[in-house]
Amino acid sequence: MTSTPEFIQIRTEGRVGILTLNRPKQLNALNDQLIDELVAALKAFDADDEIGCMIVTGSEKAFAAGADIGAMASYTFSDVYKSEYITHNWDLIRSIRKPVIAAVSGFALGGGCELAMLCDFIIAADNAKFGQPEIKLAIIPGAGGTQRLPRAIGKSKAMDLVLTGRMMDAQEAERAGLVSRVVPLDKLMDEALGAALTICNYSLPSVMVAKEAVNRAFEGSLTDGAMFERRMFHALFATADQKEGMTAFVEKRKPEFKHR
Ligand code: HXC
Repeated sequence: MTSTPEFIQIRTEGRVGILTLNRPKQLNALNDQLIDELVAALKAFDADDEIGCMIVTGSEKAFAAGADIGAMASYTFSDVYKSEYITHNWDLIRSIRKPVIAAVSGFALGGGCELAMLCDFIIAADNAKFGQPEIKLAIIPGAGGTQRLPRAIGKSKAMDLVLTGRMMDAQEAERAGLVSRVVPLDKLMDEALGAALTICNYSLPSVMVAKEAVNRAFEGSLTDGAMFERRMFHALFATADQKEGMTAFVEKRKPEFKHR
């Protein structure tokens, strides 16, 4: 990053890059600057050989309560359409190739829920609340909510949330398949870090290919996705780490991956 970010905090823990949204007074409401800073930090970690996995998190009270309503209130159609205000950088989050875990406590609403869904999986604290309440503001989700939520939890529940604007608690979100695990609030970062460190210990090429292959399941046909998987499965036999991983298993020792 070229300058110190104002609305996110950046730290590392071993090979894990941790990004904390930091606009506490506004419940981490997402403005363009925050998303720009987040994208820049994610891209920097993605390019950093010392990093194998990332975590995006917020505060206890809010992962993020959505796009910044104050900033959006006076925008006209021309403003948002021509300049892509609010939405312009979000797609870049999808281009991050290493795994990104969302560690969510408190409110994950509107753009906050969409940001969590742009991550690869969501670990939720037991106080987490998810929702797409944009309908209450006479708008709709704008960063993939109407597309990713039905893929994650099915049409009926997604319609319910998008049309009524109601919130779903962590337990309901886990039952519905939006989140992978629910843990007590005070264990959230330990759990997310544990998952991230586990991932970091695997061979990075296989981790990146695995992420790419699972994402194919949401963006193409079953036949194309399965073919992509098969070809990438074959390709991983070209890595030094595949030799090391299988040899180590046969020799009953721990593998030492070199991430190549
Ligand atoms: C700007 C926000 C905000 C938001 C909260 N705040 N959410 N500011 N944008 N999205 C501010 C409040 O104005 C308030 O500021 C402070 O944060 C604390 O919020 P309270 O409402 O006092 O807290 P509480 O009573 O606990 O209620 C929490 C809440 C509520 C249920 C999360 O704040 C709420 O409904 N927020 C809006 C949620 C929402 O509609 N999100 C969708 C936005 S549209 P002050 O200065 O008064 O203390 C969207 C589109 C996505 O996300 C498009 C993506 C590209």
